[in-house]
Amino acid sequence: MQSLASLLTSRVEAAAGVDPEMRPATKPQFGHFQSNVALRLAKAEGRPPRDVAADLITRIDVADLCEPLEVAGPGFINFRIRSEVLARAASDLLADPHTGIDQADAPQKIVIDYSSPNVAKQMHVGHLRTTIIGDCFNRVLTATGHSVLPQNHIGDWGRQFGMLIEQTLDEGLDLSTLDLAGAEELYKRANERLKADESFADRARNRVVALQAGDEQTRAIWQRLIDVSKVGFNETYHRLGVLLTDEHIAGESSYNHLLEDVCTDLEQRGIAVVDDGALVVFVDGFDAPAILRNRHGGYGYDVTDVAALKYRAETLGADRLIYVTDARQRNHFELVFAVARKAGYIPDSLVTEHVGYGMVLGRDGRPFSTREGTAAYLIDLLDAAEEHVTRPVALAAIKYADLSNQLQKDYVFDAERMTATTGDTGPYLQYAHARANQILRRAEADGIAWSTITVLDEPAEQALALLLSRFGEIVALVAEDLQPHKLCTYLFDLATAMSSFYEQCPVLKSEGEVRASRLALCATTKKVLATGLGLLGIEAPDQM
Ligand code: ARG
Repeated sequence: MQSLASLLTSRVEAAAGVDPEMRPATKPQFGHFQSNVALRLAKAEGRPPRDVAADLITRIDVADLCEPLEVAGPGFINFRIRSEVLARAASDLLADPHTGIDQADAPQKIVIDYSSPNVAKQMHVGHLRTTIIGDCFNRVLTATGHSVLPQNHIGDWGRQFGMLIEQTLDEGLDLSTLDLAGAEELYKRANERLKADESFADRARNRVVALQAGDEQTRAIWQRLIDVSKVGFNETYHRLGVLLTDEHIAGESSYNHLLEDVCTDLEQRGIAVVDDGALVVFVDGFDAPAILRNRHGGYGYDVTDVAALKYRAETLGADRLIYVTDARQRNHFELVFAVARKAGYIPDSLVTEHVGYGMVLGRDGRPFSTREGTAAYLIDLLDAAEEHVTRPVALAAIKYADLSNQLQKDYVFDAERMTATTGDTGPYLQYAHARANQILRRAEADGIAWSTITVLDEPAEQALALLLSRFGEIVALVAEDLQPHKLCTYLFDLATAMSSFYEQCPVLKSEGEVRASRLALCATTKKVLATGLGLLGIEAPDQM
């Protein structure tokens, strides 16, 4: 379904020869859309802008869509959509199973790397952000017709397993009784000992060697620690209502068997060089090289990601690769993307994007941290929000707070403010949805029938219908530039337009066709709010 804005754009472009850059009008008296195209053309042609605009409007063929065009101010062109066109565009959303979201002509395979917590550690606030943001990308890209494959790159490999396994054996710990919080306690005890006890540190190092060599008992304990952690991660995913499941787990260890080949290949082709005993890849523009193998022969984070990139391109057949992590990992990803490209592991056509997000701050404006005694675990944040409201509302509050600012910005976790049902919050949007539902249920109880939007005489009705007609366009934008705050802003504007509509246009107290049309407008708004919230991973309960 082509949006009104894009239809208008193509018609105006046909007459003007350049992109008219249609903008939503800033005031109702300017109509619905405005373009400054005449001002730009006038400059190039050296003619008075109002003359150019006057000429243009005789050639723009939009009589079927708009009221007669108007030239305003220094030479703007104002477009007012005819109300029956607007009514049809909004009504179409109600019938459309995709609610006006265009389905990709050439669906892509999109791999999104998100969540990716670490074994034997509880998810911290940073993991809250990647999980919520990645889940939103998953939903938006799926809704636009792409095939999305989440990859949960859990930290299930590395030196820390030496001390973890050694400590488990020393304590004679029964891992079948351990949960994730218990595993994290174990982690802390092991870490303390590592610092204090030389011989323990030695044994931990040897244990890493045993793990790499595939020693049976060592592997069994390692696997057990992963299983325990997965149970904990899944509990959190379930509580958050995100789409991740075990089938999306592709931890660091799953690339182990590829690392040696990657190193040999890159060394043979002269892309990797030995530097101070380590095998590294230097890339122009980066301060430090990517480390493929350290001077003790160990493989780390960089080479694992290079192998993962190769695997995702070659084996998974990704067309687009998205990584969602803390903004501080930007350099790491830019570097491994560059290495993989230099190596020819990913084709030029494959788009790689790192989406970095900011920190979650406490009310004191400082990052959450356990050392300062404030909540650092994701679970604690959920608990904090649920102290104020029920779970669906708490989740709406947290997810909306996470998604409604530019992702790279830090944001303050203020449970009270986030859970308020007024202002730019998730609960406010849920409330707007429930309110639309309530009106529809009342109409139903009174036996009032309605079907489509037919009358749009009032400015408040028109403003609402116009916003509704833009939904698909906004979703397409978010699918493209991965900035969910644009969808949040849109939904907030929609909820606000809906409440002005209620104030100015009685629904149940009006009559006949006007009432039926207004009910259809409520139903469409409810549908768009529910669909939009759904794309943010937020539930839209019928009652609040
Ligand atoms: N486990 C890492 C962390 O907690 C994030 C991994 C991100 N994904 C990746 N492919 N490196 O910071």
